[in-house]
Amino acid sequence: MSNLTDLNEKIAKCDACRLCKQRKRAVPGEGREDAEIMFIGEAPGWHEDQQGRPFVGPAGQFLDELLQSINLKRSEVYIANVVKCRPPSHRDPLPDEIGACRKWLDRQMELIKPKMIVTLGRYSMARFFPGATISKVHGTSRTSEGVTYFAMYHPAAALHQGSLRGVIMEDMLKIPPFLTQAEAVPEEPTPQKSKKAEKVPKVEKAEKPGKGEKIEKVEKGASAEKAEQTEPKQLSMF
Ligand code: URA
Repeated sequence: MSNLTDLNEKIAKCDACRLCKQRKRAVPGEGREDAEIMFIGEAPGWHEDQQGRPFVGPAGQFLDELLQSINLKRSEVYIANVVKCRPPSHRDPLPDEIGACRKWLDRQMELIKPKMIVTLGRYSMARFFPGATISKVHGTSRTSEGVTYFAMYHPAAALHQGSLRGVIMEDMLKIPPFLTQAEAVPEEPTPQKSKKAEKVPKVEKAEKPGKGEKIEKVEKGASAEKAEQTEPKQLSMF
């Protein structure tokens, strides 16, 4: 049994927070165990809870289209969520639920060792772009400890707000050059490599843009956090 399969079994039995009481199935994640690129969403919805697989509902259909647009298949990437069990009634995951689940995502990143992590939505962004706002940071990247982090709106955002569909599609098209660049970074030879997932990347300037790409600088600090809090509730996941 691979370490990841073993981990998935542990996640499936996890009872570290209240979400275990109402789930049909935990949704650990799926994809290639040595994927170069990992997509991290928020939390399973109804469809995911039924099937135990990430992004299999309407947002997942759009994610599949997005992957296709850059010639990637699900089997070539790894897809996971910040929270592994479905929060009831479409509610956002609560801070203690995110905290209880953190160790699982940490371990997934340690085992998969992706060179690039794409955050889908606000909760995943908050983990890797602390203090950022999604409207400012989407479509930008930063690199830390040999891993490139790239922020995107959640695919479900396009389902609720049609105008974001084009934005999300454009952001997706920025991934291949970043991925090529990330793949060119040599593996770290030291055992410290397995620790890389525990480090939160420094909030600095976004990566240098590729030809014709627009990269915005990410603001950190009180003003950005304040802006975040004022985003409309129905868009909170994006
Ligand atoms: N939304 C998410 O964030 N994750 C899923 O797996 C499905 C919908």
